Amino acid sequence: MTAPTAFIRDAWYAVAASAEVGDALLAREVLGRRVVIYRTAAGHPVVLRDRCAHRFAPLSMGERVGDTVECPYHGVRYAPDGACVRVPGQSRIPPVARVTSYTTLERYGLVFAWMDESVPADPSRLVSIPQYDAPGWTASRGYLRFAARWTNILDNLVDPAHTGFVHRRTIGGKGSDDVPITATEEHGDVVCRRWVNGEPPVPMMQRFLGHDRPMDRWQVYRLALPCVSSVDFGAVEAGQPHDEAAMDAAPYRTISYAFLTPETAHSTHYFSFQLRNIAVDDADVTREFEALYQATFDEDRVLLEAIEREEIADPDAASILLASDAGVARLRRLLALRGG
Ligand code: FES
Ligand SMILES: [Fe+2]
Repeated sequence: MTAPTAFIRDAWYAVAASAEVGDALLAREVLGRRVVIYRTAAGHPVVLRDRCAHRFAPLSMGERVGDTVECPYHGVRYAPDGACVRVPGQSRIPPVARVTSYTTLERYGLVFAWMDESVPADPSRLVSIPQYDAPGWTASRGYLRFAARWTNILDNLVDPAHTGFVHRRTIGGKGSDDVPITATEEHGDVVCRRWVNGEPPVPMMQRFLGHDRPMDRWQVYRLALPCVSSVDFGAVEAGQPHDEAAMDAAPYRTISYAFLTPETAHSTHYFSFQLRNIAVDDADVTREFEALYQATFDEDRVLLEAIEREEIADPDAASILLASDAGVARLRRLLALRGG
């Protein structure tokens, strides 16, 4: 049960922040494959398998020559589409001299790669985030590497019950532990929802709203398998309808996105950004949010890394499910359907 779950390859995975990708060759491991990432002169991000076809030298140790990459060992060059374009000392280029080039998409300040070589890349399967770049919204951003398997991080992201314990020093609010959470499946996503009605706003909200009148506040945890999580958090005046239109017009709303990309069976890249509709022009608030969320995710990281060490030490042990694991149970079922 606790052996690492196979990767799901036919999806868009965040492989780098846009700001990291430039002329230099960036080496990274993604879904157990070493890749090299760079940007062409025209600005298009390239993700190649980081392994020369000749003797498997890492291309990331080589050099850029125009838009091509030159292998550090014997100088074979590869184009952005993975085709070999030069072999020193011979004019004929063997057709087998090529490396895998993964299809890329750049959006939301991230470079995504489609990691399945056998299924055509489908841009419509990248998550749609209408608030990103919309007027009245701004983003803070972060990255952490977790020495923990991706599936345990997914569990954590459909598990609102942990917030009051793991995050009591950061974002964990009081007074909501006993409000029930409903877990549903919507369009293949796992969605955990909770409304806490007629309660004073949490301290962070009070600060930006400037009052402590009772309000209705929501938490909606959504996981789009296999790798995109969002936590939507906000408040409307007490008694307002609890629908998308009211949430859209709410005076306080944050939507925290996490893009999980397995690195190895036992480690995961955790790219994140947090959208907010308050203090959108205030760079100090952006820095404050970045620090707050980094500290919050670090609390998850410390715990999940300790769990990973135990999973590795005793791989045959099976964990148990409790009543609060409705979201986790749905997630496991959907993962099994995806072949994960
Ligand atoms: S290993 Fe790359 S050119 Fe020989
Ligand atoms: Fe958490």
